[in-house]
Amino acid sequence: MRLDEEGIVRWGVRIGETVRTPVFLGLQGELGAGKSVLARAIGEGAGVSGHMPSPSFNLVFRYPARPDIEVVHMDLYRVARPGDLAELGWSELGQPNEIVLVEWPERAGDLLPRDHWLIRLSVPPARPDLRDVSVSRVGAPPELAGFPMSVWGT
Ligand SMILES: Nc1ncnc2c1ncn2[C@@H]1O[C@H](COP(=O)(O)OP(=O)(O)O)[C@@H](O)[C@H]1O
Ligand SMILES: [Mg+2]
Repeated sequence: MRLDEEGIVRWGVRIGETVRTPVFLGLQGELGAGKSVLARAIGEGAGVSGHMPSPSFNLVFRYPARPDIEVVHMDLYRVARPGDLAELGWSELGQPNEIVLVEWPERAGDLLPRDHWLIRLSVPPARPDLRDVSVSRVGAPPELAGFPMSVWGT
């Protein structure tokens, strides 16, 4: 599926509004692919108020969202080895109230939770305004708005 930025944001907001917790979403794609744009939209839909800065340097930010929901936004780009995740509180993630959004989830290797979504964003050739989006379900995470893709673009 191919979406413009407005479409990505609209989809993310719907995910944040509707997803059940705990849920873990890995956001994949090169620098500038739109992982943080999507993470912010999911946070907005979940009720995070105010700005969600990029976690590129702090690696993890937590936000209170709608009642009883917390959004955890992480960026693992600088994580050299999965073993380094312990310092980020990795083993505590997945609490019943948490929406966990992880950029560069591949850095976590085998430490990814059994049940999660992977959303991959990429820039189509010669279309810097669009993103190809692919979604894969690993294990049995809670339903995701707009998946399967038939309802996308509405
Ligand atoms: N269709 C699109 N979807 C998402 N972002 C887009 C799109 N088109 C252009 N952009 C731009 O691409 C950039 C994505 O940046 P960001 O989300 O920080 O990337 P990442 O976190 O993957 O490194 C933003 O500047 C955004 O405005
Ligand atoms: Mg980012």
